[in-house]
Amino acid sequence: MERELLERARQASELALCPYSLFRVGAALLAGSGEVYLGANIESASYGLSVCAERVALFRALMAGERKFMAIALTAFEKRAEGWTEKEGITPCGACRQLLAEHAPGLIVYLNDGRRFRIEELLPERFGL
Ligand code: THU
Repeated sequence: MERELLERARQASELALCPYSLFRVGAALLAGSGEVYLGANIESASYGLSVCAERVALFRALMAGERKFMAIALTAFEKRAEGWTEKEGITPCGACRQLLAEHAPGLIVYLNDGRRFRIEELLPERFGL
């Protein structure tokens, strides 16, 4: 399951819209229904408006009616002289950790270097109402 999900994340990264960072991120989120939701980063000329791959995947899943989540796989590719090269060990940014921890408690996060975490481990003492 981990390998398949990482492969879906690699596919998702090809859809990234990242002309500013030249850094493609892909996320594949497995929901309780068994459906997989893909996300890639979408950037803006007003840089701060850019949205991460993880949040794109999460919001797509929530708007499809999903409320339970099992795992998310992440990967990234950076543009080098030799072409798009996979970068190992990318972890979700702080904003994505907060949203994932709120909407997907217990989520397992698979990284492309073989590590895995529960989302709660990645955001201890997080904010909540
Ligand atoms: N990015 C993500 O998509 N996910 C992360 O967890 C970290 C960063 C994106 C945002 C921006 O488009 C690019 O990677 C470089 O920061």
